[in-house]
Amino acid sequence: MRQFNEDTLTQAVIARLKDADDPRFKQVMASAIKHLHAFARDVQLTEEEWFEGIKFLTAVGQKCDDKRQEFILLSDILGLSMMIVALNHKTVPGATEATVLGPFFAHGAKEYDYGGDLREGASMKGEDVYVSGNVLSLDGKPVPNAVLDVWQAKADGIYDVQTAGEFELRGRVKANAKGEYALKSYKPKFYSVPIDGPVGDLIRATGNHHMRPAHMHAIVSAPGYQPVITHVFVEGDPYLDGDAVFAVKDSLIGKYRKVNDAAEAKRLGMPNPFLRLDWDFRLAPDAGVKARKVIAPSDAVA
Ligand code: BEZ
Ligand code: FE
Repeated sequence: MRQFNEDTLTQAVIARLKDADDPRFKQVMASAIKHLHAFARDVQLTEEEWFEGIKFLTAVGQKCDDKRQEFILLSDILGLSMMIVALNHKTVPGATEATVLGPFFAHGAKEYDYGGDLREGASMKGEDVYVSGNVLSLDGKPVPNAVLDVWQAKADGIYDVQTAGEFELRGRVKANAKGEYALKSYKPKFYSVPIDGPVGDLIRATGNHHMRPAHMHAIVSAPGYQPVITHVFVEGDPYLDGDAVFAVKDSLIGKYRKVNDAAEAKRLGMPNPFLRLDWDFRLAPDAGVKARKVIAPSDAVA
């Protein structure tokens, strides 16, 4: 057959996959074709509208480089990233929940021991916070020698990797053999996702805001356990209910408490007063589960 109409075209396109070797590729492509065609039929897409779509996708690609990943941002604001997290990382009861990775992870952050000071070399000050807690198994036993890859935005809401400078407020913090970790940083603040590109235009067109509630990112890994890509949000943040990327989970909201105790501040090497966040991470056993891929923008253009 060589002549198709809007009712027969979809099956004809899917049929062209018949000689593809990889069954998973066939399944994913057939479904993508089916849903793309259904979408066009559903809204009776015009040629002008599809050309606008093509211009938009072109602009998204042109905005990407080894530091900026506009496609990840697009996936994030469409809720697709969180959909994929939900499908692939069903929370094991009792384990720390996973959430979005976001576009600002970077490989090669500096390593810190227990108590490491991520404020080192920071170009902006914030509210000093001492974050500490345990890395635990599901039955509450300490997980020795975990590594916490931690990153957060600076006080201006911009991540170090968004500008040309050095890494800031980012580090790989080693927990000790008793599963305890501690780090010094600044209290995160809410910030805007990048809106100087086509995804920003898209968000503005929806009439929604473009803010993320304050959070610290963490990837916690240890031998024999499933690594978790997660956040710790800040209790009371005004954007917890409207996160631009749908990544909030109630179980990930932490309380920053004020400590005014000169002796305690001195013991911990903090100024007085300071903030404290006590936060435990709980890891599920690895049990052969495939680890979640941690992608930095530079990986996507390599
Ligand atoms: C982030 O949390 O760093 C982030 C996540 C999604 C989009 C933009 C930023
Ligand atoms: Fe973030």
